[in-house]
Amino acid sequence: MSATIIAIANQKGGVGKTTTTASLGTALAQLGHKTLLMDCDPQGSLSASLGYTPDSESVTLATIVQQVIVNDPSISNPIIHHESELIDLIAADMSLSGIETTLVNVSVDREYILKDYIDTIKDEYEYILIDCMPSLGMLTINALVAADTVLIPVQASFLSAKGLEQLLATIGRIKKRLNRDLKISGILMTMVDTRTNNAKDVIESIRKAYGKHIHIFGASIPRSVRAEESPAAGKSIMAYDPEGKVASGYMALAQEVTA
Ligand SMILES: Nc1ncnc2c1ncn2[C@@H]1O[C@H](COP(=O)(O)OP(=O)(O)OP(=O)(O)O)[C@@H](O)[C@H]1O
Ligand SMILES: [Mg+2]
Repeated sequence: MSATIIAIANQKGGVGKTTTTASLGTALAQLGHKTLLMDCDPQGSLSASLGYTPDSESVTLATIVQQVIVNDPSISNPIIHHESELIDLIAADMSLSGIETTLVNVSVDREYILKDYIDTIKDEYEYILIDCMPSLGMLTINALVAADTVLIPVQASFLSAKGLEQLLATIGRIKKRLNRDLKISGILMTMVDTRTNNAKDVIESIRKAYGKHIHIFGASIPRSVRAEESPAAGKSIMAYDPEGKVASGYMALAQEVTA
């Protein structure tokens, strides 16, 4: 077994990256795939939304990235087994923001630090999902270098597609120099408000602009108040509202991803 590594990325904030990581991850786990979720954002939203807040003793992503940087031979184990969601989790907190600065100053192969770590655990999983922060800094570049594919959530609202060019240019540069095999698995439309024409117009315009070159997932994620509530409850939407339309959207996405 060697995991398919999926980076969930968009430097635009609040488009549904974290929600997608948690929900797609738990959907994949429910389909029987051994799945690890990695919080690669100093905001720690993925960890918190799954009910896990690191304290000063916790081994987080920051701990292991630091250990890889200094070539520490005894890498700590950061993996949390999340019983109720069926997934494993590597958590993050504010200490990861210092790591971003540290990475910039690493002299050799600073883009490969996360990959070096993931290579040591990827035989234990079928899927590893990386929740990226809303920037294209060194941590996100590390995630894209470690990944096999990148999944791009786009919020279905006016102007939401702005900024996609910058992300695609970064992915292009990474493919050229750092990770030749990186593929875009697709664009996922999130927070779709089916009652308005605006959402339909946005989806149509994204299809027109990018659909020729980039896969746009057939599954899309509706907007729902339940999805807004679930992070505060510390549960994925798959656990919080399993019969809801957002959960079924993410289950359909999981089926597409595994097809
Ligand atoms: N389908 C949905 N319906 C309603 N609200 C949603 C939906 N998906 C996500 N949200 C809410 O939108 C907000 C942003 O979502 P999320 O945190 O997943 O985005 P993000 O891209 O990870 O943000 P950031 O860039 O800050 O990391 C959250 O409050 C989340 O609960
Ligand atoms: Mg997020």
